[in-house]
Amino acid sequence: MKDRFFKHQAQTSPYPLALEISHAKGSYIYDTCNKAYLDFVAGVSACTLGHSHPKVVNAIKQQADKYLHVMVYGEYVQKPAVDLCKFIADHLPEPLTSTYLVNSGTEAIEGAIKLARRVTGRSQIIAAHNAYHGNTLGSLSLMDFEERKAPFRPLLPDISHITFNYQPHFKHITTKTAAVIVETIQGGAGFIEPINDYLAKLKAKCQDVGALLILDEIQPGIGRTGQLFGFQNYNVVPDIVVTGKGLAGGLPIGAFTASKTHMDAFQEGPKLSHITTFGGNPLIAASALATLQEVTNSDLMSQALEKEQLFRQHLQHPLITEIRGRGLMLAAITTDAKVTDQVVLQAQNQGLILFWLLFEPKAIRITPPLTISNEEIIKGCGIIIDLLNKITDSN
Ligand SMILES: Cc1ncc(COP(=O)(O)O)c(C=O)c1O
Repeated sequence: MKDRFFKHQAQTSPYPLALEISHAKGSYIYDTCNKAYLDFVAGVSACTLGHSHPKVVNAIKQQADKYLHVMVYGEYVQKPAVDLCKFIADHLPEPLTSTYLVNSGTEAIEGAIKLARRVTGRSQIIAAHNAYHGNTLGSLSLMDFEERKAPFRPLLPDISHITFNYQPHFKHITTKTAAVIVETIQGGAGFIEPINDYLAKLKAKCQDVGALLILDEIQPGIGRTGQLFGFQNYNVVPDIVVTGKGLAGGLPIGAFTASKTHMDAFQEGPKLSHITTFGGNPLIAASALATLQEVTNSDLMSQALEKEQLFRQHLQHPLITEIRGRGLMLAAITTDAKVTDQVVLQAQNQGLILFWLLFEPKAIRITPPLTISNEEIIKGCGIIIDLLNKITDSN
């Protein structure tokens, strides 16, 4: 199987982890030798309720028995998509009542950029240094890492960058700006939280000049930070909120939500301003609704904050300089990228799944399912500490 994986499935990394998966259940992934791996990554923040959560699987099965794809986005009234959009509206502050469902995070970002340009009639989009919003051409244009962009140029014009959490850069936001887009908590950069009322002040500046504020909640959203949407921690309401990853509990999804007035701009000039075949797919919408219902009807969100404290308590070691992030969106920063590499790679042998962050080489990603138990947290942290002790001893 591994041979065929390397030969026929396109690779984007020379050294993929290449774990051969048999099945996954709860907080564990099992390889084809039936070895269990405790999952501290959750498919990179996607498996909100762990693996094969019965309520999610049942919702998918029930919908599969009724119908799968019947029509392109937005033409027919399909209950799963309508219920999902209504649920999102009911749990977001006014005026965020209208949701467009797509197939991935990056596609939702593309839609949000188009909507901001269409609504404001302006073209400039301002993003943050070290941000990650996806890898299609529009989302890639928002990134400021030239070595990652250069081979794919020309990209979107009229993109500029500000530094996250640095308010003097607000001066770059002007009446030419269609939108400012930031992650609510910067992910790839190292799980950096907004400080000093940054997001509320950013929104005020956007309002002053008639620009829209887009918050990328693709990673912090869906309960991971103790609130259903990460921005609810920071006293701000964006003009457009973008979600994805954990929204459908492990199936491919993206969504962007705005006011009905703004979203209606997609209906004309031109008509069908944004089109997708599979966006709002009933199977995926059913899975998303089941995920959201479980997250909001349980105490998983408040537990996320308690579990954060457990991680902080059990991840104390001289080789860990800091734990960044909030709730179950955490990054253990080590003293050296080489230490991080050793821990991530060796953890797999010890039956623990860890991963890196895109742009912070010292970070160990800790984004487990929200359903992880306290015992599992303590067990996984123990494996990390043992590995760090071995690294200390060998030096
Ligand atoms: C903050 C953020 N935005 C956008 C994306 C892109 O989402 P997708 O990979 O579903 O296209 C990601 C994915 O890692 C992300 O973390």
